[in-house]
Amino acid sequence: MSAGREIPVILRASELRVATDAVRAQGGSVGLVPTMGYLHEGHQSLVTRSANENDLTVVSIFVNPLQFAEGEDYGTYPRDLDRDRQMCTEAGAGLVFAPPTEEMYPQTPITTVAVQGLNAVLEGRFRPTHFDGVSTVVAKLFAMLGPGRAYFGEKDYQQLAIIRRMAADLSLPVEVVGCPTFREADGLAMSSRNVYLTAEERPVATVLWRSLQAGRDAVAGGSRDPGEVEAVMAAVLAAEPKASPDYAAVVHADTLERPDVLAGELRLLVAARLGRARLIDNIGVDCDRL
Ligand code: PAF
Repeated sequence: MSAGREIPVILRASELRVATDAVRAQGGSVGLVPTMGYLHEGHQSLVTRSANENDLTVVSIFVNPLQFAEGEDYGTYPRDLDRDRQMCTEAGAGLVFAPPTEEMYPQTPITTVAVQGLNAVLEGRFRPTHFDGVSTVVAKLFAMLGPGRAYFGEKDYQQLAIIRRMAADLSLPVEVVGCPTFREADGLAMSSRNVYLTAEERPVATVLWRSLQAGRDAVAGGSRDPGEVEAVMAAVLAAEPKASPDYAAVVHADTLERPDVLAGELRLLVAARLGRARLIDNIGVDCDRL
């Protein structure tokens, strides 16, 4: 790509399919990075990884109404297609797919994808319809593009687990690749929604990262009681008066089930509201490698 030249933005699924089929016809591979736009360095790291591993990288940018409940931020979700396109170009994408809502949903879908059980725990308790909206739109994107690989950030760990399970259960011919969370220098996980934080709230937002570190330290210090580790994480969240915690949880990394005794690969997850922002974060802890 010559300097200053920006990649194409495709609006129609039929045009996208022509582009991805042409790559495959030459024996090339297609990588997909699904996003809702308002990209940050974390998204760019997914794009760069895909660009290194595939002949064509498509970044989809679509604020999916199906994954927002009544009263959530669908209408105000930050959007900036020009800036996103530039960031995708810089990171090595080949094209952007930015369908209008009527292209993704020409009629109200009565066929949806629900990854039962995994969609109801953790975030699912606070956002009961969210993950069915996510799995449905991701299944549609997979059908439209036919990517060989699709890249998701570990920041949305439950989403990643759900997409993996959906792909396995439905035998979708796509490799779901999980990529590490990108953090600001003070530990705050990068998120498009961080833009909602005020100048006073921004330093407070590190409380999620601090809570996760305290949980990890408790496991590293020998605690094998999930309740004890959750209490340590919850105490850090509770000590921050501006934050309203939703949960602090320790689960098995694959099943997202809470074990009776901590062993093997775990995921520590937290969620809290801070002003207009609802923030989530997580880290992995392997009890066998501490
Ligand atoms: O993580 C996101 O940005 C969205 O949930 C996704 C995967 C693009 C589906 O709309």
